[in-house]
Amino acid sequence: MARILITGVAGFIGSHTADHLLRAGHRVWGVDNLRTGHMSNITGALAAGLEFGKFSVLDAARMERLVRQARVDAIIHLAALVSVNESISQPDLNFRLNVEATHTVAEAARHGRVPRLVFASSAAVYGNTKTVPVAETAALHPISPYGAAKLASEHLLLASAASYGMTVRVQRYFNVFGRRQDPSSPYSGVISIFVRKSCRGEPITVFGDGRQTRDFIAVDDVARANVLAATRPGVASGVANICTGRPASLRALLKHLSPLPPVHFAPARPGDIRHSAGSTAAARRALGFTARSTMAESLPDLVRAERAGESD
Ligand code: UD1
Repeated sequence: MARILITGVAGFIGSHTADHLLRAGHRVWGVDNLRTGHMSNITGALAAGLEFGKFSVLDAARMERLVRQARVDAIIHLAALVSVNESISQPDLNFRLNVEATHTVAEAARHGRVPRLVFASSAAVYGNTKTVPVAETAALHPISPYGAAKLASEHLLLASAASYGMTVRVQRYFNVFGRRQDPSSPYSGVISIFVRKSCRGEPITVFGDGRQTRDFIAVDDVARANVLAATRPGVASGVANICTGRPASLRALLKHLSPLPPVHFAPARPGDIRHSAGSTAAARRALGFTARSTMAESLPDLVRAERAGESD
C-alpha cells in the first residue's frame, strides 16, 4: 500500500481523491489552508484515517517537514486558486497560489526524495482551441492568468522531473462535476448550478442557444485518474487530458433535469467557447484510464444528494 500526500485535500476534487485512496487501503496525509476548501468535505475521510494538517503549501518549512516525516511515495498537488474569474481580478494571488505554490511543492518533493508527483492542470491551458477533440500535442495558448499559471506549473514540474529524476504526471482536467462542488459560487460549473436550481424550482439561464458542448467528467472518474497517476506501477512522466471524449450540449443536459425548471435564454457569455472536448488516448495509454460514468448516469445521484441536502 502506498503513502500519499494530497494538497488541497478539503476541496472538491481533493476530498474525493482522498476517499478513493483510503477505500483502496492506502495511507493518506492531506493539507489544506481552508481558503476555499471545507472541513465538511473530509468528514468521511478523517473517520477513515486521513491525517490532516491545516496550513498553506506556501509554508515551505512545514511542507518539507511533513514530506520527510511521512516518507510519502507520491504527492497529489491539487491546492490552487480555482476560479478563472478570480485569477483575472487578482493576478498576484493567482501567481502565488498557482505558480509559487507549485514551486514550493516541487522543492519539498525534491528535498524529501518523493518519487512521484501528480499535478492538477486544466483544459484552460489550450485556450480557445478550434480542434475537437483536442490532443495534448495541440498548441497551448491560455487566455487567462489561471490558464497561464497552470501551464507555467506544468513546465516547472516537468523540468523538475527531467532534472531530478522524479516522475511527474500532469492531469489536464476538463469540466468536472459532482457532489461537493459549491453551486452557490457564480463561477461554479453549469451542472451544479442547474441541479441546485432544478431542485429548488428556480429558473435557470442558458447563455447562448444551448447547443454549445463540453466534455463533462464526473468527479469520481477524476479521483480514479488521480489514484492511477499516483500509484500505478511503471508510470513514466507525461501529460494527459482527463476527460470522457464524449461532449454533451447544454440542451442534452436539460433533458436529464427532472423536474425541468423554467428555462430562460440569454446572450452567450463573452469569450465563451463553442465546443470543448478532449482526446482520451494519452490517459488510456499512460495510466490505463478510461472514464466510466456518463452525465446521464451521474445526474440522478447528484439530484438525490442535493435534495437530501447532503454535502457528501
Ligand atoms: C470553464 C470555467 C471558466 C473558464 C472556461 C475557459 C468552470 C466552472 N468554468 O468554463 O471559468 O473561463 O472554462 O477555460 O470550470 N452556462 C449557462 N448557464 C449558467 C452557467 C453556465 O448557460 O448558469 C453555460 C456557459 O455559458 C458555458 C457552459 O454553460 O457555455 C459551461 O459553463 P461552465 O460550467 O462555466 O464551464 P466553461 O464554460 O467550460
